[in-house]
Amino acid sequence: MNVRFDPVRRLRGEIEPPPDKSISHRAAILGAMAAEPVRVCNYLHADDTISTLNAMRALGALVEEREDELVIRGVGLREARVPEDVIDVGNAGTLMRLLPGWLAAQDGNSYRLDGDASIRRRPVDRIREPLELMGARIEATDGRLPPFTVHGAHLHSISYELPVASAQVKSCTLLAALAADGATTVTEPAPSRDHTERMLLGAGVTVRRNGRHITVVNADEITPEEIVVPGDMSSAAFAIAAGVLVPQSKLLVRNVNVNHTRVGFVRILQRMGGIVLGELEDDPGDELPTGEPVEDLDVAAGPLVATTVEPDEVPLAIDELPLVALLGCFAEGETVVRGAHELRLKESDRIATVVEGLRGLGAAIEATQDGFVVTGTGGLRGGAIESHGDHRLAMMGAIAGMASEVGVEVLGMDAAAVSYPRFMDDFAALV
Ligand code: S3P
Repeated sequence: MNVRFDPVRRLRGEIEPPPDKSISHRAAILGAMAAEPVRVCNYLHADDTISTLNAMRALGALVEEREDELVIRGVGLREARVPEDVIDVGNAGTLMRLLPGWLAAQDGNSYRLDGDASIRRRPVDRIREPLELMGARIEATDGRLPPFTVHGAHLHSISYELPVASAQVKSCTLLAALAADGATTVTEPAPSRDHTERMLLGAGVTVRRNGRHITVVNADEITPEEIVVPGDMSSAAFAIAAGVLVPQSKLLVRNVNVNHTRVGFVRILQRMGGIVLGELEDDPGDELPTGEPVEDLDVAAGPLVATTVEPDEVPLAIDELPLVALLGCFAEGETVVRGAHELRLKESDRIATVVEGLRGLGAAIEATQDGFVVTGTGGLRGGAIESHGDHRLAMMGAIAGMASEVGVEVLGMDAAAVSYPRFMDDFAALV
């Protein structure tokens, strides 16, 4: 589906982003691993998280979808059923990387996972290493790609230093740790989103943070309390960027998760001079909270100055970096993103697709090996952009169109359904 986004004079009103995708995936998986039924309010009904519900059903969990909540009746930590068919993760990298943590602990069982064309180019060797150190075995295509098979085993606890700051690999290892024989410690090179740690703590698991080290003690069962999914900062970021870029805009972005590991984009934007008002969570240090903080954010249009995003900030804004590139087109000076090689391994090679896409709209942007450099020219002409089936690229193109001189046609806008099915309606209401 190709959609044209014309320049708009201003955006006004309120917008509530869709429920958080990362937290929804985790809620479904933890619900399936739980001993007692778990209620999940405000679950995200989008392509990625529907794939997760289907996978949980295939593994034996019962998922009852009520009007505005789900009830998941899980099978427990060690009783996942072996499905007849391959588990289809669709386009969902988070499902593909988290689920094997649970499956690895199913002693004697094997599970095959596969997904769409984009998933087939996304590496799984990063989860293979910790899971094999714990005693499971992963057979992947060429040793590193889907489709792949997880052979479950009796797991041993480990101390594992993550080679990249990846919340997916961290979470996979922590899920496997639940059924291992002792306490497992994961060390992150830099902080990444901590939803798994918070949810496990809320599910009665002993979880400790000590600087960059996170320890999970094994458990007989997990008992998550009711999970209320907050609005997704990564989806809210599109409204925030639009509110800053489209002249004379004023928006209230409601019910956004402001967990300190998710607000990197807002902090970068504020540094660029963007007007985004609201309280963001401070880093609570070693005091791991159980819940997720939410806030309403006021956004207003205004001039921007360029900034440099350093490697340490990257994990805290990883999914929003395409929007940083877009903001850079409008900012005065040279905006640089460094240390973001991980972008090459997302739903598309986001360094290549963002640079090629924005350049086609008139931007002065160059790719580097681990990021990009944008020279702001005060605006963006417009034209056409290909989504490459990547939801975040499609939505970046839409925002670019609203803020551009002549509009933008997004080729493959349907990709937005992966995380934000109501994107078009929500933005139409603001114009
Ligand atoms: C996610 C972690 C990030 C992020 C992805 C969701 C998660 O990936 O890009 O969209 O839910 O844990 P990495 O952990 O691989 O950086």
